Amino acid sequence: MKLKRVAVTVILVVMGTTTVLSQECLSDSLRINCYLWEGATQELCEAKGCTWCPSSMDELAPSCYLPPNYGYNIDGPISEIPEGGYRINLKRSPASNISYVGADSEEISTFFYFDSDERLRIKITDNTDRFEVPLEIKPPANPGGENPQYRIEFTNNPVFSFKVIRVSSGAAVFDTSLGGLTFANQFIQIVNKVPSTNGYGIGENEQLSYRHDFSKWQVFPIYTKDDAPLGNKNVYGAHPTYTMVEPDGSTHTILFLNSNAQEFLLTPAPSYTYRTTGGLLDIYIFMGPTPEEAVGQYHQAVGPQPIPAYWSLGFNLCRWNYNSIGNMNATIERTREAGIPQDVQFGDLDIMFDWLTFTYDSNATYNNFSGLPEFIRELKTRGIHFIQSVNAQISSEERRLPWYEPLRLGHEMDVWVKRPNGTPSTGTLWPGGEHEGWDKPAGPGFGGPVHFTDFSRPSAIEWWRIICAQYRDVLDWDGLWLDMNEPASWVSGDVVGCADNLINHPPYTPGITNNISDLTICPDHVQDYGILYNTHSLYGWSQARGSFEAIKPLFGTNRTFQLSRSTFPGSGQWAAHWLGDNFSTWGNLASSLIGIMGFNLFGTPQSGVDICGFYGRPSEELCTRWLQVGAFYPYSRNHNVRSTSEFDQDPASWSEASRNSTREALMIRYTILPYMYNLFYIHRVRGGTVMRALWAEFPGDQVALGVDTQFLIGPAFLVSPVLTEGATEVEAYFPEGSRWFAYRNGAEIEEAGSVILTAPFGVINLHVRGGYILPTQEPALNTMLSRQNAFGLIVALDGSYAARGEMYWDDGVTHAEVQDEGVYFRSTLLYIDGNLTQTVVNDAYQGISGLEMDSIRLFGAPSIISTILLNGEEHTDFEIHLPGNELRVHNLNIPVNSNYMITFLP
Ligand code: GLC
Repeated sequence: MKLKRVAVTVILVVMGTTTVLSQECLSDSLRINCYLWEGATQELCEAKGCTWCPSSMDELAPSCYLPPNYGYNIDGPISEIPEGGYRINLKRSPASNISYVGADSEEISTFFYFDSDERLRIKITDNTDRFEVPLEIKPPANPGGENPQYRIEFTNNPVFSFKVIRVSSGAAVFDTSLGGLTFANQFIQIVNKVPSTNGYGIGENEQLSYRHDFSKWQVFPIYTKDDAPLGNKNVYGAHPTYTMVEPDGSTHTILFLNSNAQEFLLTPAPSYTYRTTGGLLDIYIFMGPTPEEAVGQYHQAVGPQPIPAYWSLGFNLCRWNYNSIGNMNATIERTREAGIPQDVQFGDLDIMFDWLTFTYDSNATYNNFSGLPEFIRELKTRGIHFIQSVNAQISSEERRLPWYEPLRLGHEMDVWVKRPNGTPSTGTLWPGGEHEGWDKPAGPGFGGPVHFTDFSRPSAIEWWRIICAQYRDVLDWDGLWLDMNEPASWVSGDVVGCADNLINHPPYTPGITNNISDLTICPDHVQDYGILYNTHSLYGWSQARGSFEAIKPLFGTNRTFQLSRSTFPGSGQWAAHWLGDNFSTWGNLASSLIGIMGFNLFGTPQSGVDICGFYGRPSEELCTRWLQVGAFYPYSRNHNVRSTSEFDQDPASWSEASRNSTREALMIRYTILPYMYNLFYIHRVRGGTVMRALWAEFPGDQVALGVDTQFLIGPAFLVSPVLTEGATEVEAYFPEGSRWFAYRNGAEIEEAGSVILTAPFGVINLHVRGGYILPTQEPALNTMLSRQNAFGLIVALDGSYAARGEMYWDDGVTHAEVQDEGVYFRSTLLYIDGNLTQTVVNDAYQGISGLEMDSIRLFGAPSIISTILLNGEEHTDFEIHLPGNELRVHNLNIPVNSNYMITFLP
């Protein structure tokens, strides 16, 4: 069956002619660079066999570029593969004698796997034993399929190229006709001419606009690195994936599953030129066709995030340098006194003894944390959970033995990353740094020597489990903060340096900061699953996975929480993410939206940034604005650096006006948490984002495609923050085709399009989209308390006075496997023709009985409501709230898990 389908989807076509400017020169925008290094000259270029023609219009375009006959030709018959799809063998074109870096594979194969109607996999390999990313790609939801959204066309003239075409529109979502296909041992390239310039994603880096700019020959380098997000450079995570909205609004997501140092070059063709320094090409195309479907298919393939522990969705407080329980407690206390909610308290390095991971300073040798175990237990009685930072780099100094168990047992269980000669790799990091003071630059000699845990080794997972269990016996933490896992080191390579070979010094290095051994382990050092050259960018991913596996049993059936700095596709299965060491600047506040929306594409919806910035001192205005928007990040945590120790930036440390603003914003977060929680549930079962850009809902709206200063939580809750200093207004965009109501009073936006909204110091603009019903709950100072409160609904009507919604509820702590047995509550909500009904779909969570649905806020009713019937009986407790004409219904006292109907009559 499948093969038949394949046979009709493949068409051999002859390529069209290439666009030329003059007889000899190829149009600037279509060129593929042939000389990758600085200082190309005609002589150097032509000596390589490349074509030289000074770029005419676009000075960024290469003057030395590939001739059209560069590449591979089809070699032998095309064969069908048992999985469903095709194999095409290729041979390097005899007409092309150009080699970028040498060691080109003469023979390669392209495999097209027709995974499902919405998923196509393209694998290009030289059929030798090359490194493949050990991420298990989940089978598609509907394997096989009879009506693929794509078809493939290919040509062999003058060289092999192919197009993946969306059947419904004819748009080529992947098109290699510009040429450039290269498969060499340490340099692989594929050029994908794309159907639009509405591309989003690729990370991790700081992007200043969410939508990619193809006009500037910009490079997005990818190689995990401990580096502050200062513009477009490679930082903590590696996400070789993007999502693109096509001209007709259909959307696809593409993953390049590869973990080597790599880059995407954005050219005006428009194209993404993809280059990697190892592994192979393993490309997954998810056809959507809606944005949420495309992204959701990606999430399902790499593995979605489990439903988070409910408490982790509350407000998190952190700082490096409380330096004593007294200061930590004072912060917690003033937060509570200010009426600002808090669910989580973090511990950073300062709670440790000598910055040794898995310790705490029990005798107040450096900082006063004696009594921390009792303090943590006491916090829990108040409903505050505790998360502690840990590092995979373990102090290796002899003087730590025999008492420092992570080192002693680590030696015994043989858990370290190794040098080629089998001895443990050794870098330097925090431990010991405290003696010397901190305010000096990182570099050799700073901190103390460390070994690096190899999380691809089963003994290491077992060792991690043992030391985590021992640590938890001492400090009853609820989750782990996995930091520095790029992996970072304060020396480059190793304390004894790196060998001089092609692995440590590859012939081509993508546009990353410095080189591939900069402040990390030597690339030729070894983990169980390969040399760091291939596995470096998987380090944080493997730690999140290994640590999750190790600590999960410590929590029985309860969920735990991990927060990881370095990530890779699939990391969301094991850890939430924060975007690292940002700055207290307005620019970083603005780019936080882009970064977090990106991580929602990447499959870690529970992402956030350090609210108010990590480095530097925020003004009260900046911090207050940041707290307002941070209240709506899917993951909300305030954190700052040690060197600003004199300056507190926790929400309660500011003026009364600021505290009022933060309290209000966070109380709204807690109010809409049931709505947000449902989005996390949907992500778990279908994939999809929690925080998304307007284009994810309005892909056909040309303005929405460029909006990145506002965001949506799910489809229906729009946040339009102030992101610039001194502003008391924001220009917000409201796409046509939906009604929009102010969250606070239900006032409707009269005319769609750009609207100036007033935004005084204490106010963040929030709107609800017509057509949606949002479950809410009365807020409280933490979720332990709020989860006891009454629920409510916000019902925002669309143009035909209808709305829909759904609710998911469980105990907030039992982990996913148990959830799969159905121990949860689920309902659908519908408002139509003046009737609001809840239909219970699943009612297996006992804990919901006793809780009530008490209030309704109805936005956008067609006429004044004068009578309300609850299951047929008149209910009189309601009022029209001016100026928005919102209808507020109180004291409904309906069991939240019951089927009910409420009728609204004029
Ligand atoms: C890293 C983390 C930061 C933390 C610090 C000390 O810089 O990114 O959040 O506070 O280490 O642990």
